[in-house]
Amino acid sequence: MDFGDTAHISFTLGRTGGEPPFFGESTATVTLILGASFNRNYHGPGKLQAQEWRESMMEVGVSPCASVEDLAAALNPIMHYFGGGFTDHDMARWSRTIEIPRMLAVRDNGDVVAGAGAFTFEMSVPGGTVPSAGVTVVGVLPTHRRRGILRAMMRAQLDDIHRRGEPVAWLWASEETIYRRFGYGLSSLSGDVEIPSAAGEFERRFESTGVTRIVTEEEAFEPFSTVYEAVRRGQPGMFSRTPDWWKLRRLADSDRARAGGGGVLNRVLLTVDGEPRGYALYRLHQSFESGISSGFLNVIEAIGSTLDATRAIWRFLLDVDWVVHIKASLLPIDHPLLFLLARPRLMKMRLADALWVRLVDVPRALAARTIAPAEPVVIEVSDHFCPWNEGRYRVAADGVERTSAAPDLALEVNALGSIYLGGFSFGQLARAGHIEERRPGAASRADALFPRDRAPWCPEVF
Ligand SMILES: CC(C)(COP(=O)(O)OP(=O)(O)OC[C@H]1O[C@@H](n2cnc3c(N)ncnc32)[C@H](O)[C@@H]1OP(=O)(O)O)[C@@H](O)C(=O)NCCC(=O)NCCS
Repeated sequence: MDFGDTAHISFTLGRTGGEPPFFGESTATVTLILGASFNRNYHGPGKLQAQEWRESMMEVGVSPCASVEDLAAALNPIMHYFGGGFTDHDMARWSRTIEIPRMLAVRDNGDVVAGAGAFTFEMSVPGGTVPSAGVTVVGVLPTHRRRGILRAMMRAQLDDIHRRGEPVAWLWASEETIYRRFGYGLSSLSGDVEIPSAAGEFERRFESTGVTRIVTEEEAFEPFSTVYEAVRRGQPGMFSRTPDWWKLRRLADSDRARAGGGGVLNRVLLTVDGEPRGYALYRLHQSFESGISSGFLNVIEAIGSTLDATRAIWRFLLDVDWVVHIKASLLPIDHPLLFLLARPRLMKMRLADALWVRLVDVPRALAARTIAPAEPVVIEVSDHFCPWNEGRYRVAADGVERTSAAPDLALEVNALGSIYLGGFSFGQLARAGHIEERRPGAASRADALFPRDRAPWCPEVF
C-alpha cells in the first residue's frame, strides 16, 4: 500500500457508480476449517490425534466488508506489516477510494485476522482495454499465518471476480513466491535507476519548445489527468484513474509520504503552445556535507504524451540544481532514457518483477487484446485453481473459441498471464520450460498472433 511514494503494495480506486455488490447472502461467506495448532495447510486429522484435532478446530469465514468500520478492521492485518499507525487521515483517504464490498475479511471469534481487497480497474492491454480487478492489501496477521487463510481468500476473491465478469486480475506482489500457485504469471518488469547529475547529458542536442511551471495540487488535476489519459490507452499495463484517485493517491502530499526524509511533493506541468503535454511529480531529499549538497531528487512519476514532451520533462528533472543524483523507480524497461542519455550505462538500471497477471476468463481476456492476422494455433490450458478455464482454445485474429482439435502448445494459465500484456513471448517461455510445444515451431507461430510493440508499464504500485 502506498504510504511512501514507491513502497510496494497499495490501494485505491473505488467504483463510483452504483454497481450492485456481488457477494449476496448466499455467496457471501466461504468457510474453511482451521486447526489452531496447524502451522501450515489444513490436511485433516491424519497429522494429529482426532480428539486433539477436534479441540483445536475453529470455523473461520471469508466475507465481504459492509461498512467503513469493517474496512478499517480488514486493513489492519496488512497495516500490521507496515508498522501499524493507521491514522484518521488514512482512513478518510481509503474509505473514499476503495469499494467496500470488494474488501474481504476473515474473522476468528469476531476479530478480523486477515483481509484482501480488489480495485475495479480498466486495464490497458495491447490494442484495447479490459475490465479487471487490481488485487491489493492482502494480509494475514502473524498469529494466523500458514493455516490456509490466504488460500481461502484467493478462492473467494477469484470466484467473485469471475462472477463480476472481469476477465483479468492483476497485482504487485510483496514476494514473488506467493501468487503463482493461484494462477498469476509474471507479466512485466520494471527498472529502478540512479542517474548521477553529472551524467545527465543527452546524446543529441535538444531544445524544448515547452514551458514548465510548478503548480498547486488543485491546478495539477486537470492537465495531469489529460496527459495521463493520452498515454494510458496506448500503454499496456496502465489503468484508469478516477478523480478521487488523482486527489488522494497522486497529488496530495502527506507527512507519511515524507517520512523517508523527503521534502514537499513538487508537481511540475509542461505545456507546449498552452496545451498540457507532460508532468512530473518529485521530491527533493536534501542534505549537505562540507557545504556541498549530497542530496538527491526522487522522481515519483514523470510522463510525456509526445516524444518531445518526454524529452523536455526529463531534461527538466536532470537539470535541477543541488542534487548529486536523480532516482526513479518503476520505469518501463524500454524507457526512452536508454536512448536519450549520452551515457545510459551510468543509469545503473536494476530490474525487478512488476505486474503479475491472472486470466480469470481465458477466452474473454484474449479477445480483449489484439490478435494479429496469422496462422491460428490451438492452445491447451491447465488451470487447477480456476478449472472453468481448462481446455483447448483455437486462437485466431477472428476470435478465440473452444475446440477439440489437437493442441499445438500446452501451458499453465500462468504462462498466458505472462504473455498477455506483451512483456514476454511464447518463445521465451518455451525456452524456460513453461510452455510445451506439441508441434515444432508452434511457439513462433503463436508469437506471430501476439504482436508486441512496447514493454508493459504501470507507473504506480496499487
Ligand atoms: C503472505 C501471507 C498473506 C500468507 O498468508 P497465509 O494465510 O499464511 O498463507 P496460506 O497458509 O494460505 O498459504 C497458502 C500457500 O501459500 C504459501 N505461502 C504463504 N506465504 C508465503 C510466502 N511468504 N512465500 C511463499 N509462499 C507462501 C504457503 O506455503 C501455501 O502453499 P501451498 O498451499 O501451495 O502449500 C501472510 O503471511 C502475510 O500477510 N504476509 C505479510 C504481508 C504480505 O506479504 N502480503 C501479501 C501482499 S502482496
